[in-house]
Amino acid sequence: MVTIKTEDEIELMRESSRIVAEVLKLLESSIVPGVTTEELDRLAEEYIRSRGGEPAFKGYGSDPGNLYPATLCTSIDDEVVHGIPGARRLGEGEIISIDVGVLKNGFYGDGARTYPVGRTTDLKERLMRVTEQSLELAVRRAVSGNHLHDISAAVQRHVEEAGFSVVRDLVGHGVGRQLHEDPPVPNYGRQGTGPILEEGMTLAIEPMVNAGSHRIRVAADGWTVLTRDQSSSAHFEHTVVVRSGDPEILTTLLRERKSGEPDNDTRVNARINTRGTEHRGKTGADQS
Ligand code: MF3
Ligand code: CO
Repeated sequence: MVTIKTEDEIELMRESSRIVAEVLKLLESSIVPGVTTEELDRLAEEYIRSRGGEPAFKGYGSDPGNLYPATLCTSIDDEVVHGIPGARRLGEGEIISIDVGVLKNGFYGDGARTYPVGRTTDLKERLMRVTEQSLELAVRRAVSGNHLHDISAAVQRHVEEAGFSVVRDLVGHGVGRQLHEDPPVPNYGRQGTGPILEEGMTLAIEPMVNAGSHRIRVAADGWTVLTRDQSSSAHFEHTVVVRSGDPEILTTLLRERKSGEPDNDTRVNARINTRGTEHRGKTGADQS
């Protein structure tokens, strides 16, 4: 069942999601060669608790013997998602996807982004840029009256045009009083299909994009998802509110920003309006 949130509930999700965005910002300066992923995890957990929240992923899972043990998911290079923080040290040129969930006042926020460690390759840079762009394009479709798979189709089209592939076996999700709510939000699908979006739906949209084949496998730890062909993978995620006008991104520090507005802080080079007509602009807004 898909729930519609009231404005009061959305205000609580704004708070949880803001903490998610703050964690991702806070970690940026620590993502350097030599740092361990468990050091990043500790920074994140301390920060979340200092803001009155709780890590959402810790203790999550369906197998009571193997619940998720950490605050962050830290997924490096061919790790797609759900990498468990540990003693591994980041190396120059790797890319690391960091996924954070926060529970506060009964509501969840969920977000992720992929960062380079020092300088990386052109391929990995392009993979990260295309994945982030696919999220931005998808978010713009989160408008009431659109179909759910308009979001999915926007991701798939942009990713495949770039020669990369979208992971099929893992999807985004509704989010709110639970970390994972209906509806599932696939990153592939046909425009004009799926349920009609309504104002007040809250979605975690999260493209997972592989440089090679879309096929994945799960490591022996029962959590870490890897590409089968060992190609690199990137992951960006936002918690978003479906609106009748511009969709609202909750996992951002830019409080006034609506997703439809041009913004120096986005890396998108293709603008798509919310009804699905595409306007290709000039490339070149590529900075962080
Ligand atoms: N953002 C991911 C998701 O929504 C992270 C979940 S990690 C888990 O599925 F441990 F909670 F599963
Ligand atoms: Co999620």
